[in-house]
Amino acid sequence: MRDYQYNYRNKRENKTKMTENIVEVKNLTKIYDEGDVLAVDDISLTLKKGEIFALLGPNGAGKTTTISMLATLLKPTKGTATVNSYNIDEDPDKVRKSIGVVFQEPSLDGDMKAEENLELHAILYGMSKSERREKIKEVLKLVNLDDKAEMYTKNYSGGMKRRLEIARGLIHNPQMLFLDEPTLGLDPQTRRKIWEKIKQLNEELKMTILITTHYMEEADVLADRICIMDHGKIIALDTSENLKHQLSGDIIEIELENVHNLSMIPQLISQLKEIKGIKDVKIGAKGDQGVADMTMNLPAGMKNMNPQMMQMIQQQMKEIMTDAKKFVRATKKFPMASNFFSRAPLEAKERVANLFKGNKDLLEELPKNMKETILKIQSGEYEEKQKNENPLLTISCENGAKQITEIIQKISNSDNLNIKSVQMHNPTLEDVFLFYTGREIREESSNNTEDVKKLIQMRQLRQNK
Ligand SMILES: Nc1ncnc2c1ncn2[C@@H]1O[C@H](COP(=O)(O)OP(=O)(O)OP(=O)(O)O)[C@@H](O)[C@H]1O
Ligand SMILES: [Mg+2]
Repeated sequence: MRDYQYNYRNKRENKTKMTENIVEVKNLTKIYDEGDVLAVDDISLTLKKGEIFALLGPNGAGKTTTISMLATLLKPTKGTATVNSYNIDEDPDKVRKSIGVVFQEPSLDGDMKAEENLELHAILYGMSKSERREKIKEVLKLVNLDDKAEMYTKNYSGGMKRRLEIARGLIHNPQMLFLDEPTLGLDPQTRRKIWEKIKQLNEELKMTILITTHYMEEADVLADRICIMDHGKIIALDTSENLKHQLSGDIIEIELENVHNLSMIPQLISQLKEIKGIKDVKIGAKGDQGVADMTMNLPAGMKNMNPQMMQMIQQQMKEIMTDAKKFVRATKKFPMASNFFSRAPLEAKERVANLFKGNKDLLEELPKNMKETILKIQSGEYEEKQKNENPLLTISCENGAKQITEIIQKISNSDNLNIKSVQMHNPTLEDVFLFYTGREIREESSNNTEDVKKLIQMRQLRQNK
């Protein structure tokens, strides 16, 4: 994964300077009458010709609404935009002809062959028969589906469907492409293949691409610039490197355990903020997104291990989780595998259960409790036990190595607060998101951490009075 990111970064830096604007958005706003929802709140931005631009944000941030307005499928309540120099209100047809769109929701007709799906689209764009024939061949080849042209799309895999939708978006030679969550629900390997295609379109066809995603890693790997959206607003817009750089220094994460009295934490945060060199302290539970989402957490007590070692283990786990045989081999070699598995997020467990679908023999070779869990997931009987998440302090500081001792001392001095684990790392996009929005990108659930956040907010309100 590292190498992959590294390669992309290098290529990104070699890109020719992009100066010409291809999209200009001014004060774009959308209020949905139904429910009175302010979905997009007065956003202004520009896209440069030739760039990959990511709208990154959690569910409900307003990404699809923004793309829909730019693609002229939805009328703005206020504000306007130009796309390929056409105004979305005045020239919607010209805008539509000049863009390709891949929607978040799947939109292929399963009862039609791949080439028929494309044919229909080409007819809608008024292309002549010979033009259609040539173009369909070309775009199918571009997404490596030329040998699957006559297959009914209901028999396509998720990744093939997504690639075909991208091909369809390209059939009328658009100048730019809108991709709404192009890899949602795909497995890590397939997701990577789609990334490669997107990069290829951008590099070889010089296609400008606007992509929405809620995967940090996707935005990080693909985009020249990232626009973080939350609650309909732009909260940050820059290159991934600059966004991370704004959060210079180190990030220290401290997980607390057995916290019985949550009201202690706001006070602790105030004390921590007084330490010289501490820039900000946030409370929240945080996990890797995207590909890493699919890996498992380390068992308790192992979190303090050397970060490189931990990274290596997590890398290996990603590999293992794509192959049932490798998975079985790993569980035999590694006696703690069961422990890993039982602590893994439900999504990861489901992925493993999928690996063993139709693989009864291999399933028999797994430890008993893993086998039972997998069988329950496969039959839909599995119920995840409610986890009581521990509060996690995320501290942005100038020099972690210098400040860590004082931080730990302050926490240890607080009665009844136990430290479960301490980790230090360079700022990631997730940290950027946490420190800009005060919340993690995952959907929030009601748990201890939420209660603590509420307490802090109440305290701040009282102080402001
Ligand atoms: N047709 C609609 N009518 C009313 N409210 C809507 C409609 N479409 C979206 N919304 C609301 O507008 C807000 C933004 O939704 P939108 O789909 O643009 O978010 P998103 O960032 O694309 O989210 P996701 O990651 O889940 O796709 C949400 O609160 C959503 O519930
Ligand atoms: Mg969406």
